[in-house]
Amino acid sequence: MKIMFAGHAAIVLFLWSCLFGQETHNRALYRANESVEKAAAKAQTDPLRPIFHLQTKANWINDPNGPIFFNGEYHMFFQHNPYGDKWGNMSWGHAVSRDMVTWEHLPIVLTPGPDSYDKDGVFSGCAVDDGGVLTIMYTGVQPEVQCIARSYDNGRTFSKFKGNPVISAPPRQDGEGFRDPFVWKDGDWWYCVIGSGIKGKGGTAFLYRSKNLESWEYLSRIATGFSRMWECPNFFPLGEKWLLAVSPYGEVKYAVGDFDGRYFHHGQWQRMDFGGRAGFYAPNCLVDEKGRRIMWGWITGGGSKGYPWNGMLTLPRVLSLREDGKLGIEPLPELKALRALAADYSSIKLERGQLFVLPDFKSRTFEMIVEFDPGGTSRFGVEVLRSETGDDKQVILYDNESLTLSVGDKSGDFEVLRKDAITLHIFVDRSVIEVFANNRACLTRRVYPKDIDSQTVAVFAGSRPVSIKRLEVWELDTIWRE
Ligand code: FRU
Repeated sequence: MKIMFAGHAAIVLFLWSCLFGQETHNRALYRANESVEKAAAKAQTDPLRPIFHLQTKANWINDPNGPIFFNGEYHMFFQHNPYGDKWGNMSWGHAVSRDMVTWEHLPIVLTPGPDSYDKDGVFSGCAVDDGGVLTIMYTGVQPEVQCIARSYDNGRTFSKFKGNPVISAPPRQDGEGFRDPFVWKDGDWWYCVIGSGIKGKGGTAFLYRSKNLESWEYLSRIATGFSRMWECPNFFPLGEKWLLAVSPYGEVKYAVGDFDGRYFHHGQWQRMDFGGRAGFYAPNCLVDEKGRRIMWGWITGGGSKGYPWNGMLTLPRVLSLREDGKLGIEPLPELKALRALAADYSSIKLERGQLFVLPDFKSRTFEMIVEFDPGGTSRFGVEVLRSETGDDKQVILYDNESLTLSVGDKSGDFEVLRKDAITLHIFVDRSVIEVFANNRACLTRRVYPKDIDSQTVAVFAGSRPVSIKRLEVWELDTIWRE
């Protein structure tokens, strides 16, 4: 009798805590969403606020989280502080899309607490399709533990798993950090890498496996290397190889290699974007409905003073493995859907030292494809967000002597074979510039024009003549459809 009573009491208590816990979480979500709505109108009138980069309605964003194609929709979640334009109160914001081009904001899905395992933050993670159930795996803080949450309404709401955390401690005690699970499925098994670091050895990614996403078995350290810790590991097959991208506090690095099921045997670490940590950090990716690997990164930086927003995601980038073993990286071709007014200036010959301002084209939200034939050794490039006089401008430069591509003071080594042309695919969105060079290098950076009327575009040549085979520009539309 006593045992029966205790049993009933336990069930009542369990149900109560389920209801109460969800209730409290819902109330916290309500408050968080309300806070964002309050700041939205102001944030959106900032003249420096981009129009075709994925952002929160207002306040802070950092890492893209759990991008996934599920039931005909693309979901993008992201680290979000609903309460201000600085990092804090880490929650999961949410946007959906049918095409990865145009987006709609949805309410925040996860916010800290009420249980202790994530009361100090719902940190980065991923989303998977678990037999028709959209499931998130994320890091709960503090200390860092791994948790799951499930949705039964196409990702509109999530319930945190009652058995959280699903991994309650790292496999060893001499580590630094234990976060940002990245999950994939192979046969009957789920696999997961989690970012960490080992004192005296460097950043690492721990590999686990599971049959049900709820109980996990530790397998190995797939790789260990530079820096103190690797945040946000992304590990996936690309072509015949595997690619590991890590965010080691500094700029994102990737390596290509082979995975034997336990260890990643890889080549040299390379830079994923020449814009540095502020231009591209903590990326996350998905496989789209056509089977392509698409990646987004986080771009840091606020808007004009007094406007409550900070950060955005890069444009979606299609990754591929090139024959030389290097990464191919191009903007999602479907972004063409945003193109409005076009202008074509192809076949221009620039004399040495010449600057050519595009006639009849002024914009600060545009796409440009420019194909230079470098000819001899020289420098050449493009000026954007440029005032009529040229005293305010952002310079995208290719230096054919030092073989570097730069935007302002950010640069990277980029070799163009002598006879090869260099095609710069440039996106300018008010206060952010993304440059793709020959679809194999990227440079992303925030810029702060002195004047929003600085909108002319020019091409220029250094000490040698340069011919431009193709030069097309398109005014771009906003991605927001709400
Ligand atoms: C990377 C990161 C992650 C962490 C998240 C917290 O920018 O530090 O390691 O999960 O941000 O917001």
